[in-house]
Amino acid sequence: MMESVNISLPCKPEYVSVARLTASCIASQMGFDIEAIEDIKLAVGEACNNVVLHSECNPTYELALSKLEKQMIIEVLDHGKGFKFESYHAPELDQLQESGLGLFIIQSLMDTVEIKTMEGNGTKIIMRKDVE
Ligand SMILES: Nc1ncnc2c1ncn2[C@@H]1O[C@H](COP(=O)(O)OP(=O)(O)O)[C@@H](O)[C@H]1O
Ligand SMILES: [Mg+2]
Repeated sequence: MMESVNISLPCKPEYVSVARLTASCIASQMGFDIEAIEDIKLAVGEACNNVVLHSECNPTYELALSKLEKQMIIEVLDHGKGFKFESYHAPELDQLQESGLGLFIIQSLMDTVEIKTMEGNGTKIIMRKDVE
C-alpha cells in the first residue's frame, strides 16, 4: 500500500524550508543516498519557491509526499493564478542567467516531471524519483 504524507503550507517564503526538510526526511527513510536527497530538496525548494513567488496563492498550498517501494512521488499543488505553459521556454544554457532555471533544474534532477497548469486555476507539479 502506498503511504503518503500530506501537508498544507502557508504561501510564504519562510515555510519553503519546512517543505524541503519534510521531503528530505521521507527520502532518507526510503533509502535514497545523500546526493539524491540533496537533489530532492533542491527540486522541492524550486517548486515551492515558484508557488510562493509566482502563483499568488492564498492562504495555503499543498505538498504530498508518497512512498512507493522504489519510487518517491512528490506533488506540489497550488490554487493560484497558473501560467501559460505553452509560452514557457527552457533556458538558453550558453547565456548566463540567474532566473528562469527552476523548472529546468527540477526536470534535470527528477526522473519524471508532469506540470498541469491552467491560467486562473492553479498549478500542479508531479515529480517522481526512483530509488537507485
Ligand atoms: N506555481 C506557479 N504558479 C504560477 N506561475 C508559475 C508557477 N511555477 C512556475 N511558474 C511560471 O513559470 C516560470 C518559470 O519558472 P522557473 O523556471 O522556476 O523560473 P523563475 O522562477 O526563475 O522565473 C515563472 O517565471 C512563472 O511565470
Ligand atoms: Mg523558479
